Amino acid sequence: MEHIAAVVLAAGKGTRMKSELVKVLHPVAGRPMIAWPVDAARTAGAAPVVLVVGHQANAVLNTFRGATDIRCAMQEQQLGTGHAVGCAREELAGFSGTVLILCGDTPLLTDTTLKRLISFHRSHGASLTVLTASVDNAFGYGRVVRDQKDSVLRIVEQKDATEEEQAICEINSGIYCMESGFLLAHIDQISSDNAQNEFYLTDLLSIAVSKGLTCLALRTDDADEIMGVNDRAQLAAASRILRGRINSELMCSGVSLTDPDHTYIDYGVSIGPDTIIHPNCSIGGETVIGCGCTIDSGVSIVGCRIGDDCHIKAGSVLEGSELHADVSIGPMAHLRPGTVLHDHVKVGNFVETKKAVMGEGSKASHLTYLGDAEIGSNVNIGCGTITCNYDGVNKHRTVIGDDVFIGSDVQLVAPVVVGRNSLVAAGTTVTVDIPPDSLAISRTPQTNKIGWRLKKK
Ligand code: UD1
Ligand code: CA
Repeated sequence: MEHIAAVVLAAGKGTRMKSELVKVLHPVAGRPMIAWPVDAARTAGAAPVVLVVGHQANAVLNTFRGATDIRCAMQEQQLGTGHAVGCAREELAGFSGTVLILCGDTPLLTDTTLKRLISFHRSHGASLTVLTASVDNAFGYGRVVRDQKDSVLRIVEQKDATEEEQAICEINSGIYCMESGFLLAHIDQISSDNAQNEFYLTDLLSIAVSKGLTCLALRTDDADEIMGVNDRAQLAAASRILRGRINSELMCSGVSLTDPDHTYIDYGVSIGPDTIIHPNCSIGGETVIGCGCTIDSGVSIVGCRIGDDCHIKAGSVLEGSELHADVSIGPMAHLRPGTVLHDHVKVGNFVETKKAVMGEGSKASHLTYLGDAEIGSNVNIGCGTITCNYDGVNKHRTVIGDDVFIGSDVQLVAPVVVGRNSLVAAGTTVTVDIPPDSLAISRTPQTNKIGWRLKKK
């Protein structure tokens, strides 16, 4: 398919969202709503894609920064969908072919449906084809009015519809395919003589019909796909459906989800086969997870790379971290950005790491804070160890060599270096560097006062 352009309408504020954020930027399964229809249009072969923007225009355009196929048309005042498409006129001026018109608030639309729409439209030599669906509850949508022969006559908006028209259950999806010649010749003929005093794009249908041009409607069976998101309830419904699609794809590719209805995986996450994900996990931010991993319930992972055969135990939070193979985390561990854990590392319960590198086979099993730390391989970090990395002004590094044994309840006051194969005795506060192969111990000598309790009584 060639010579396809798309116009995506995204100038409206989305009043019914009751939000400071413009509607089309609300995230749906981990990406701004508008990215979904734009990608569907691109995959269906559209280039360029003209975005009609108005409210928070810069923020909307920023979603696609660096993209060479995106063009921008400003609509200063939102005077209706017909006016919005009119604003794209200049961006389409040099283009001759088929124009897809989409709304930025239909995140469930697929490229498969757009390709069907385009080939239906072209094979019938139509000037305009609208995508429609029959739904149980048509409230709020434009209704498709047909004549006795089932030919499309016009679309009537909810607010302009008679009671009889309101009973029609075939609705306008707001998705159209038009020939550029027809579009550019007639877009200025739309008037605002209606209940909302808006320029309705839908008027192009009656214009085409009155000129004897071919104007068609393609009914889709999947009404979900054309669902427009106008409020938060529809946002939640659309998110659920998109997550369902993501989860189905993952399961098809060999990932086990014990309860797919309660697994929240965003767009752009990749997970290898034989990984098992238990309920109530959220995974997002272009995370990559390898094969054969187990992610227990209630785990949150954002922007991480996780190797094969890792086990992330319940309630752990992982952000911006890199885990190599066979790493075990949690339960209730917190890996913050800059954490790098090499093969066979174990980070146990109530351990927090930040900008911490741990070499192969090293362990921090319980109740520990490791920040700005470089830890070699085969190191044991005892329970309750703390890197004192912050002096109130600056952050300092702790460096621990290979094969070091740090006993329980040790404070490492950074900057400090623990040489390889050293042992730090339990309860030690390390304030000076430790040479390799040494024992470091700092304790107040213990006094036992014999019989002290008896005398008190
Ligand atoms: C529109 C259709 C309706 C259809 C429905 C499908 C018209 C007149 N009505 O109604 O038949 O059933 O979509 O979801 O076309 N926009 C602009 N500039 C404007 C007005 C709107 O860019 O001046 C954008 C909005 O940001 C939004 C899209 O166009 O992304 C649709 O606008 P919206 O107000 O939601 O239209 P509906 O009332 O839903
Ligand atoms: Ca809408």
